[in-house]
Amino acid sequence: MPGDSRQKVCVLGGGGFLGSHLVTSLCDSGKFRVQAIDTTFDKLTVSAPQLTITPADITSAGVLEEAVENNQVIVSTTALCNPSLYNTRPVEVIRESYDHLVPLVELCTRRNRWLVHFSTCEVYGQPLPGSSRQPLREDESRLLLGPINRERWSYACAKQLLERLIWAQGRHHGLPFTIVRPFNVIGPRMDFIPGRDGEGLPRVLACFMKALLAGEPLPLVNGGNQRRSFIYVDDFVAGVRAILLRPARCQGEIINLGHPGNDISIADLAGKMLAVFGALQPGRPLPGVIRVSAEDFYGPGYDDCDYRIPDIGKAERLIGFRPRTGLDEMLPVIVRDYLERYGTATPTGEVSR
Ligand code: UGA
Repeated sequence: MPGDSRQKVCVLGGGGFLGSHLVTSLCDSGKFRVQAIDTTFDKLTVSAPQLTITPADITSAGVLEEAVENNQVIVSTTALCNPSLYNTRPVEVIRESYDHLVPLVELCTRRNRWLVHFSTCEVYGQPLPGSSRQPLREDESRLLLGPINRERWSYACAKQLLERLIWAQGRHHGLPFTIVRPFNVIGPRMDFIPGRDGEGLPRVLACFMKALLAGEPLPLVNGGNQRRSFIYVDDFVAGVRAILLRPARCQGEIINLGHPGNDISIADLAGKMLAVFGALQPGRPLPGVIRVSAEDFYGPGYDDCDYRIPDIGKAERLIGFRPRTGLDEMLPVIVRDYLERYGTATPTGEVSR
């Protein structure tokens, strides 16, 4: 459209879980022209005149160059973001989180494009002993990763190194950047259901959904006392959209996006999901939970953190960020979405919708 002054934003990984929700939200706002680049787009249902879909791999020749040439902002969301891979395919995890994105950082620096990079709350690693469940702060908390033989931290380390590269290019060579640290975003279309549309182990929400759909007990790794703070995907993408509308405030910043009010143990999350599933599928026997060891579930080299609570004071100050959705509100929406998409597999393997 001639004279169109809307910001041109390219979302790398625009067909993934976070990417597809973000692309939809940016298109709905009417404030952006959006290019979505990914290898698959099964999760992206929106189509709009302001959206261009580009099926491509970011490692293919010319893809990043063209994206940086044609857009003012690049949002990078690509990664192998799944703990079961960190100790089983660590080389690919490191390559996707670091090597594949170094050329993007260089290009954005050279062309003066705003790079909005999705890092991870995993960079905080394990809480310092005795830190008594302190919320994690972007510019103050120490980043404490385990020894090298604990391959769990391969992802966190690669993501941390990329953060350090982006920061250095920003401070010393003028790269306009914002680093976003998402804290356990959950919502419809997250991950995959093993045996249905993917293989291996997804993250906890999809693991529990897989068990519920199959009528199997929900696995609690090491008993499930570890805690996470879950944020609903709509609250998360609202935060990213707000960042994109406030470059002057957000450039040069690292920003946590999470929901400290939704801090819960994994065992209690399982309890809530069983209750929601029972309410949506009355009459179906509920499978309960089962304790599994981390070694049996993930294999050697796995490690965990006991809790991870975001401090969101900075996001509130910069963009007025206030996530609103509690677990009791989001879980019925999410479980219903999985039921609609996958149906319920009966113990005989038949699927009813
Ligand atoms: C993951 C990723 O590593 C991060 O990159 C990402 O930022 C983060 O999720 C996120 O979603 O933001 P983690 O929270 O450990 O980290 O991932 P989950 O697989 O969702 O596991 C959460 C907890 O549940 C872990 O303690 C895990 O051991 C446990 N779990 C997982 C179970 O008890 N049962 C399961 O079936 C699966």
